[in-house]
Amino acid sequence: MKKAYLETYGCQMNVNDTEVIFSILQGAGYARTENIEEADLIMANTCSVRDNAEQRIWGRLEVFNRQRKLRPGTLVGIVGCMAERLKDKLLDTRKVDLVAGPDAYRSLPRLLEAIAPESPQIDVLLSREETYADITPVRTDKNGISAFISIMRGCNNVCSYCVVPYTRGAERSRDAHSIVREACDVYQKGYKEVTLLGQNVDSYLWKSGTECVNFARLLEMVAAVAPDLRVRFATSHPKDISDEVIAVMASHPNICRHIHLPVQSGSSRMLALMRRKYDREWYLERVAAIRKAMPDCGLTTDVIAGFCSETEQDHQDTLSLMEEVGFDWAFMFAYSDRPGTLANRTMQDDVPADVKNRRLNEIIGLQNRKSLERYRSQIGKELEVLVEGPSKRDPAQLCGRASNNMMCVFPARGRQAGTYAHVRVTDCTSATLICE
Ligand code: SAH
Ligand code: SF4
Ligand code: F3S
Repeated sequence: MKKAYLETYGCQMNVNDTEVIFSILQGAGYARTENIEEADLIMANTCSVRDNAEQRIWGRLEVFNRQRKLRPGTLVGIVGCMAERLKDKLLDTRKVDLVAGPDAYRSLPRLLEAIAPESPQIDVLLSREETYADITPVRTDKNGISAFISIMRGCNNVCSYCVVPYTRGAERSRDAHSIVREACDVYQKGYKEVTLLGQNVDSYLWKSGTECVNFARLLEMVAAVAPDLRVRFATSHPKDISDEVIAVMASHPNICRHIHLPVQSGSSRMLALMRRKYDREWYLERVAAIRKAMPDCGLTTDVIAGFCSETEQDHQDTLSLMEEVGFDWAFMFAYSDRPGTLANRTMQDDVPADVKNRRLNEIIGLQNRKSLERYRSQIGKELEVLVEGPSKRDPAQLCGRASNNMMCVFPARGRQAGTYAHVRVTDCTSATLICE
């Protein structure tokens, strides 16, 4: 068998896509390798969401090419979101043999077969139907305990800053029964946690004949697979997360108490320009509804600093919202102008880089303080942790996540990965609970 080496960048959906790609490549006679030096095929599954994500890939392409020269016959491919966006530019470099977009992975065997010197192959067609529903991903996780399952692809929102609708195409939901089958399958293989993935899971809607499954119903179906199979999901959209979803979470102990709810900005004026379709008050109301139903629910978010025309007041609104909500954790970014987006075409990227960075640093500083507060508030509590394996820092300790997604470390005492441990929190940092 030939060997394929694949690096993954970007979001969790890409991580799962890589697993689908390995499954398809198996059918074409390629086994997975983690050693680039023995690879017959080297690929990167890429991300276009911010400019620095793309810059990293151009750097990797140089490394791949050095390898291609050392070992003639080795093929180099770029797949994923950047392939979709930069197909011509990638082919012009003459450093790639293969370019395939997120909906073209079924063509990989045919494309690989057709590659010839001076004849790179490309397929970046987006589909309205493709969900890879029938493909069993080759799991690439290290622990065999937590698996990702894609429940939908694409995105129908047009947040003005975001390239995803262009790189991934229109939103489509995967057959609900194929999702439940995949959850059963991983459970039988020993997994204890599944994370349902989509750009906006709350708008999941699958219809067939008289059957109609929304996200709340899907959560119930997956939660019913086994009481000791944990269910997580990402990402929720503040405009779409419904009372029904919150109620289903609250009534199922194996649906984890954690919601990733990207706010992007605390200023209603910015949110309107971003086309998020909610305002500050709406967001705070959703947070209140979540906390009323599940006081112990973990909340995390994404924040963008320095979007077009952002004023000092808008920035203060973001800080005050973060202060008010108290997120456990956040992904925080400086706004990056992306070619082709609505903001790129109709707005000015007019916040100077130094101002963007200063605001980002203030946001990060505030969040670090808030994270420490949130983690400290857990001291003394008893939590149920799914054991993932030895802690990275100290092999005599184990690590695993609590339902609220906080990472816990605790003495091993002969416990095995994949079991549930009951721990008491004794101390913390801003990212880890130290437990006994
Ligand atoms: N579908 C998810 C997020 C997808 S992209 C959602 O709607 O929340 C992940 C995160 O990247 C976004 O939440 C946003 O915070 C950030 N992001 C997207 N485009 C960006 C851009 N042009 N510049 C900076 N950050 C961006
Ligand atoms: Fe991008 Fe908005 Fe879709 Fe998220 S919901 S992927 S931010 S367009
Ligand atoms: Fe990046 Fe594509 Fe995900 S642009 S964030 S890899 S959907």
